[in-house]
Amino acid sequence: MKILVTGGAGFIGSNFIHYLLREHPDWHIVNLDKLTYAGNLENLSDVQDDPRYTFVHGDVADRELVNSLFEQEKFDLIAHLAAESHVDRSILDASPFIETNVKGTQVLLEAAKQYGVQKFLLVSTDEVYGSLGPDDPAFTEENPLKPNSPYSASKASADLLARAYFVTFGVPVVITRCSNNYGPYQHPEKFIPTIILNALADQPIPVYGDGLNVRDWIHVEDHCRALDLAMKKGEPGQVYNIGANNEHTNLDIVRTILKIMGKPETLITFVQDRPGHDRRYAINPAHTEAALSWQPSVDFYTGLTDLIAWYTANRAWWKRVKSGEYREYAEKWYGALTS
Ligand code: NAD
Ligand code: TYD
Repeated sequence: MKILVTGGAGFIGSNFIHYLLREHPDWHIVNLDKLTYAGNLENLSDVQDDPRYTFVHGDVADRELVNSLFEQEKFDLIAHLAAESHVDRSILDASPFIETNVKGTQVLLEAAKQYGVQKFLLVSTDEVYGSLGPDDPAFTEENPLKPNSPYSASKASADLLARAYFVTFGVPVVITRCSNNYGPYQHPEKFIPTIILNALADQPIPVYGDGLNVRDWIHVEDHCRALDLAMKKGEPGQVYNIGANNEHTNLDIVRTILKIMGKPETLITFVQDRPGHDRRYAINPAHTEAALSWQPSVDFYTGLTDLIAWYTANRAWWKRVKSGEYREYAEKWYGALTS
């Protein structure tokens, strides 16, 4: 099998490539990544010389480049993860979100339509459903899409385009909508890395608003296993919710991490809320569990404890991300980076 993974230098993408190389020794993986601030080739330094892995530096919204890749290779599968992914950045400037998340997805769908693939996996998000009230039932695949941030609106657009390419052109699209991920290689701008890294440095931990917003957390390894199953067993045209039935308020998460790390709660600092901040996400994964025979396996407390140990053991990795030195690694191998 030959698979095109987009966004493979990011958090979930790099975990997914590691997962695929481990689980499918005979697959060849091409990783197409623009290496924005969120793309870090150091995440994949251990596999860069693996003959089953090829890196291509480029933009998913670049139609010529994408078409030239499909001219050179016959891809059996596409796993499309490349995206601008941070809600706060989408509030500051939505343009790159439209370019990458909407146009980039359309360019890839068009290539899949023209050249043919066995499966096109679109990695969408639970954020397309919008926000829940405290007593609402968790999102099922039947919930309407009601995105509230420019990020989630751009992901919902991609999600709907994928559906349209299935209905109109028969592109074998499978869509997954997963809840918030945590695990190794997540960019330090996201919530759980921010808590751990600030606590390690005895710095204040910024909690938006009243800290009572609820997210449904899943370990990235459980997400990767579900993505692999969705590619193999997912039915074209179907949507699969992925989640671990693991809802917590932001304040609970900070308190749990501080307790594991033996740090004081005085580090908690309430800051101005995010505009349009979704109050609660919760995923009902029953359809995916039944259809793909999938179950999450990582216990949250154990996962967080292991992650804290990972950040402690991998200081060089996050220090290079924070200082910007990680860019030098990619520049050494692939020349000047664009953004
Ligand atoms: P990330 O920001 O860590 O990584 C994104 C990657 O995409 C980076 O390597 C970046 O360089 C690359 N990229 C950005 N624009 C590109 C472009 N135009 N062309 C090629 N590559 C480009 O994101 P992540 O957290 O790993 O998320 C991966 C996917 O999973 C996204 O589609 C996101 O919407 C989705 N998702 C994420 C979560 C989560 O909790 N992180 C949950 C559900 C779904
Ligand atoms: P984030 O990791 O940005 O994911 P998303 O907004 O896509 O769910 O944020 C998770 C939650 O944590 C969200 O409710 C916003 C909140 N948050 C903070 O309170 N402080 C922070 O510094 C960050 C980055 C997020």
